[in-house]
Amino acid sequence: MNLEMRINTCRTLHQKQSAFAFESAPLLSLATYIGKQSAGHPIQSESTPLNQADLQSGAKQFHQRIGQINVSCAQCHDARWGQKLAGVTIPQAHPTGYPIYRLEWQSVGSLQRRLRNCMTAVRAEPYDYGSPELLRLELYLAWRARGMPMETPAVRP
Ligand code: HEC
Repeated sequence: MNLEMRINTCRTLHQKQSAFAFESAPLLSLATYIGKQSAGHPIQSESTPLNQADLQSGAKQFHQRIGQINVSCAQCHDARWGQKLAGVTIPQAHPTGYPIYRLEWQSVGSLQRRLRNCMTAVRAEPYDYGSPELLRLELYLAWRARGMPMETPAVRP
């Protein structure tokens, strides 16, 4: 599970409250506040026997061509980072700043919202919030960014 789902599990299990909706203000606020406690600390992510299968599926998804445009995450974020796409610099897709304030959204949003944006951009059907596919991608991105400092809440165009 990711941080948002951990918060919701604590809400329902221990506080006997209803879960917050994905991308709702209370869930994003809590995730941003908790994420900020780690600002400056390196991402710790390891490949363990328990997460190995999910990590490998996440890596596979990252390298798989998707959508009508038929490109993979890696083709943009590993092979072409630093280049321009419609005037925007392609970043390396590190998840260090999430939840993030995005100027285009005029609000804070989650990593899953960002990943879904990249999927719609290549005309792929985005996975649902909380889906195993998005969680495996998040896991792989965290592992790929291991050692990098957290910067929640970051700002992006
Ligand atoms: C066609 C190129 C392209 C593809 C394919 C693509 N992205 Fe992106 N991605 C971008 C661009 C461009 C941005 C920055 C957008 C902006 O700032 O407007 C971005 C942003 C991101 C970010 C935010 C990084 C940050 O610094 O906040 C992440 C994470 C990300 N992409 C992950 C993915 C994943 C995972 C996939 C595959 C499912 C993917 N992207 C597919 C072009 C792409």
